[in-house]
Amino acid sequence: MAILVCGGAGYIGSHTVKELIGKYEVVVLDNLSTGFPFLLDDNVTFVEGNLGDERVLDQLFTEHQIDAVFHFAANSLVGESVVKPLMYYQNNVAATVTLLQKMVEHGVNKFIFSSTAATYGIPDRDLITEETATNPINPYGRSKLMIEQVLADAAHAYGVKYVVLRYFNAAGAHASGEIGESHDPETHLVPIVLQHLLGQRDKISVFGTDYETADGTCVRDYIHVTDLANAHILAYEGLAKGNLANEVFNLGNGAGYSVKEIIDVCEKVSGKQATVEYADRRPGDPAVLVASSEKINKVLGWKPKFKLEEIIESAWKWHSK
Ligand code: UFG
Repeated sequence: MAILVCGGAGYIGSHTVKELIGKYEVVVLDNLSTGFPFLLDDNVTFVEGNLGDERVLDQLFTEHQIDAVFHFAANSLVGESVVKPLMYYQNNVAATVTLLQKMVEHGVNKFIFSSTAATYGIPDRDLITEETATNPINPYGRSKLMIEQVLADAAHAYGVKYVVLRYFNAAGAHASGEIGESHDPETHLVPIVLQHLLGQRDKISVFGTDYETADGTCVRDYIHVTDLANAHILAYEGLAKGNLANEVFNLGNGAGYSVKEIIDVCEKVSGKQATVEYADRRPGDPAVLVASSEKINKVLGWKPKFKLEEIIESAWKWHSK
């Protein structure tokens, strides 16, 4: 039996594939729209195709004995989602509904879904639990929340068993140094700062210095991509053993760091000095997003292994290469 990883050539998907290899047979479906062939592991069966393509899915579920689907394939930029909402609803919602439909038709019932802190919107408290109200403030967050709701209905009607994982800020790179964070264009803070420190960008812009935080810049919860990957495997094994079904879990370190603090740590790790420009707020950014991951710790024993400095060190190693 194999695991189908949709979006296995993307950042978090490829790191999860690395953890799965050796334990499980893996089939990757990716259209390479935002993923990269160089992130693909040699030990997987790769199918290039679209999530919403019924023909591709029929063939895939017929040719391979799929036990579970890990679904990373999505557009995931908040700003872009505001400008191109229909693309987000098409790719993140409609295509995922097609995927679920095909799973049901082919008798595949385990689903691990990549969701996001963006489902919470502007939370009414600093430490976010899974009970915190979900009020997404952009199409990206809404597209992910819609699928969470679809999953609850599909579980009820067809017996789909799912785990929703709401990631906070993924960062870092694989210990091997072989794969790491790559986006084109890059919009995420850690790679941008490291690219600047490597001389690949003139400066860093800090978006907003007047937030209600200790130093006025936004606070986020950075979590190592391999810690995220391992949570997927625990979730799958929980589903496979029948120990859990239809759960939502936050994934973060439970510690918040400001944009300025991230730049400081990047400077320390690289031994280089950054040139920083203070810019206006970026629309749609909540001031503080920090996860309580107590629930997944209690239910699945998941605990992040990497602290901020180690996250940045692993990313620095990758970007320096
Ligand atoms: N930032 C800067 N300068 C930059 C880039 C980012 O100051 O050049 C700031 C942002 O304004 C934000 C923080 O750094 O305050 C982190 O920004 P990222 O773009 O790295 O990450 P986000 O918090 O915006 O995004 C992450 C995920 C999204 C998810 C979102 C939920 O990448 O998928 O959290 O809020 F939707």
